[in-house]
Amino acid sequence: MCGIIGYVGGRPCRELILTGLERLEYRGYDSAGFALIDEGHGVVESVRAVGNLAELRAAAGEGNGNGATAGVGHTRWATHGRVTTANAHPHASADGSVLIVMNGIIENYLELRSELQNAGVVFASDTDTEVVPQLIARAYDGDLAAAVRAVLPRLGGHFAFVAAHVSEPGRLVAARRECPLVIGVGEGERFVASAIPAFLSETRDVVLIEDDEVVALDADGHAIWQGEERQPARPPSRVDWDEDAAEKGGYESFMLKEIHEQPAALWDTIGDRLRGDGSVELDGLGLDDAALARVERIHVVACGTSYHAGLVGRYLIEDWARVPVHVEVASEYRYRTCLAGPGDLVLGITQSGETADTLAAMRVARERGAHVVAVTNIMGSQATRDADGVLYTRAGLEIGVAATKTHTAQVMALSLLALKLGRLKWALTAAGALDLADELRRIPDAVEAYLRSPAPERVMQAAAAYAERPFFLYLGRHVGVPVCFEGALKLKEISYIPTEAYPAGEMKHGPIALLEEGSPVVVVATDGHVFDKVVSNIQEVRARGARVIAVATEGNEEIERHADDVLWAPRTPALLSPIAAVVPLQLFAYGIAQSRGLNVDQPRNLAKTVTVE
Ligand code: G6P
Repeated sequence: MCGIIGYVGGRPCRELILTGLERLEYRGYDSAGFALIDEGHGVVESVRAVGNLAELRAAAGEGNGNGATAGVGHTRWATHGRVTTANAHPHASADGSVLIVMNGIIENYLELRSELQNAGVVFASDTDTEVVPQLIARAYDGDLAAAVRAVLPRLGGHFAFVAAHVSEPGRLVAARRECPLVIGVGEGERFVASAIPAFLSETRDVVLIEDDEVVALDADGHAIWQGEERQPARPPSRVDWDEDAAEKGGYESFMLKEIHEQPAALWDTIGDRLRGDGSVELDGLGLDDAALARVERIHVVACGTSYHAGLVGRYLIEDWARVPVHVEVASEYRYRTCLAGPGDLVLGITQSGETADTLAAMRVARERGAHVVAVTNIMGSQATRDADGVLYTRAGLEIGVAATKTHTAQVMALSLLALKLGRLKWALTAAGALDLADELRRIPDAVEAYLRSPAPERVMQAAAAYAERPFFLYLGRHVGVPVCFEGALKLKEISYIPTEAYPAGEMKHGPIALLEEGSPVVVVATDGHVFDKVVSNIQEVRARGARVIAVATEGNEEIERHADDVLWAPRTPALLSPIAAVVPLQLFAYGIAQSRGLNVDQPRNLAKTVTVE
């Protein structure tokens, strides 16, 4: 996690760095800092502060580095060392000559630190990062890029960093291993950052840096090395992302904006992939139809909300294509005996394409000979480079830490894959596939109509009434299980209220003991073959005094007799209900967090991309 940015060029860059950091804040926000360097004056301003970017701006005030044309900035998600100003970046070498901002972890830092301490180097922080400027300062002999190249092989772990040296004020040197780093190419200026949005308002021409490359940047150019070998010039590619994605566009938060962007995310994810005859075209999987038809087994690896999308995908693929699907959190999959192999398809679902555990699990499966496809939202992300093929979700940039539109887009992408597999496996008839294709096409409109209706406002009102409850139980059956997992995750992420999410049938094996008079129980009770079973579970929890908040399909009158509150979801066929049913639960979590006065876009301790295991 952590976001890093650097600028070198002809313009005063203080505001460019601070604005860029604001765009990277989703990566971590427990502390932040920046340093500005000017020709002939060295470091003219260096500020670090605990808290988010607003705190950094407050600490920096008017500042005295307004003329500086080179600088680095950092927003932190702590790994090594508590959240303190001393542990915030930039970190400097003991002699003050080298400055570093870094994302990632130096795994052998203890060994490097004691070696440096034995040589008399005094450390100013508890971080793993600080060994990097210390090593570079000692290796420096008038050429920062050479010093970074010399130090890089000594560093274990995964990281991306940007270094500056007071003697080379017009130059930055950056390096990466398994953490993202992109260069922004402008007229007489260069940006370097963890992610493109950091400089998207300034340039759309980007160059991606590969693992173990070192790049030296100055106003007029950049040079890239792999080891000591200078790499051929790499032409920039142009990104056509919507810059507005990084703005709230009139909404009170990114999360609320992104909830409302779900119809567009769903439409775009379908795009031209769904043909009039019900067939599905998925470019980029790295498998032709004949090879896909031979797939006998699918493994899905993912974390967090992406894992929940994978759980939904299992129901769809197993039902439509009759291919067995194993879904597992990547952090467990990567350390188990991996039984995937040639002939198996492994889907790594990761909106960011950066999650360390998901990348590692994909690597394990790939080494075993499985065909690995990344299901991701970010073009050029590490997952796309590590995989044999890619299935893109097209949700646009998501800034809110709690994933919403990327989740529903993942479910849609998996639906398309399931439909395609269903036809290839002859598990679906042509007519059956055509019906499903029509149903899939209807979903974005149904979600759009729902979001425009009075229903979301009613969800918010219901949420406000429950905002002070100390605990929520979420129950569901069949496809309602991953929906309640996701609904419960949203609530705990942004409201900090403990939740338990369970398959309703398992409720009697433990969670029912948690219920007391008035305990709120959220039950996913959408129409389908398990509806009556879910209603029985509703009776059971109500008999113990619980208050039931049911998520039900629009038009289902029966549910009103059983539930205390109903959150309506747009009508879809049962297997496609997870997209429709999760939206009211996103809003419910949102409404509770809002009533509690919490910052939904920056929940405590979380980060959007988890690049450490
Ligand atoms: C973090 C985020 C979640 C996300 C998970 C997986 O925990 O806060 O919103 O679901 O990482 O991220 P990925 O980018 O791999 O989908």
